[in-house]
Amino acid sequence: MTKLGVFDLAVRYGKVPAVNTLTLHIAEGERVFVSGPNGAGKSSLLKAISGAVATSHGRIEMDGDLLTGLAPETIARLGLSMVPEGRDIFGSLTVEENLRVGTGLRRDAEAVNADIDDIYNSFPILRDRRTATAGALSGGQQQMLAIGRALMTNPKLILVDEPSLGLAPKIVDQVYDTLCALQEDRGLTLLIVEQSSLRAARVGGRMVLMRGGRITSEGNAADMVDREALTEAYFGTSNTHMEGTT
Ligand SMILES: Nc1ncnc2c1ncn2[C@@H]1O[C@H](COP(=O)(O)OP(=O)(O)OP(=O)(O)O)[C@@H](O)[C@H]1O
Ligand SMILES: [Mg+2]
Repeated sequence: MTKLGVFDLAVRYGKVPAVNTLTLHIAEGERVFVSGPNGAGKSSLLKAISGAVATSHGRIEMDGDLLTGLAPETIARLGLSMVPEGRDIFGSLTVEENLRVGTGLRRDAEAVNADIDDIYNSFPILRDRRTATAGALSGGQQQMLAIGRALMTNPKLILVDEPSLGLAPKIVDQVYDTLCALQEDRGLTLLIVEQSSLRAARVGGRMVLMRGGRITSEGNAADMVDREALTEAYFGTSNTHMEGTT
């Protein structure tokens, strides 16, 4: 059963087209990477799916529910969570306060505590640092916190925009190990923007390449990287984004 269906999607900012007649289906439990150059429309695609930006054409469905035109909070309630680029955490609040943001309206205090406990079990480092201010965490810990926060609404589908940004490769390993473990434990479906196609190949999953607001190719991430390597060997050019070391 298809979890997410994006049909003929277009997003524009005034006259600037960011996503153009894009169609994408994601199955239950799948892991899909979106890669492509700067300005390709990757973040705009995620923002449109999560309701953060309006669509100018097309429709988005999840489990048969039409998401197009719904408010982000309503989409979140239907089981979709987004970890935005830049992580969007509150630096002056503690780790635990960050996890509680948005739970103020929930009356089930015990259930909230249990959800937080689950997140601490997935990210023991967050339990250790639960009273530290989020701004004092390392980049990798902040990324973990942002993912933990996205889990607080018990989503079925999580969209993650560039989780590797600004992190050392070893830390990126940890972030992906955790994402893959969460996927296994909770049966999550993941849609991840990842600039490094080598990283996507290593983690494993389907890769969708975007350019100019459209999907230019897609397939198994490892096969696609092999193909790019072959192109490079023959023609000396490649679109492969090498992994940064920062
Ligand atoms: N708020 C905005 N207002 C106007 N134009 C925007 C806005 N956000 C994005 N754009 C434009 O839309 C296009 C797609 O941008 P988007 O951020 O979706 O690309 P991206 O693939 O995520 O790029 P990056 O790799 O740099 O994160 C680009 O031309 C960008 O300049
Ligand atoms: Mg982006």
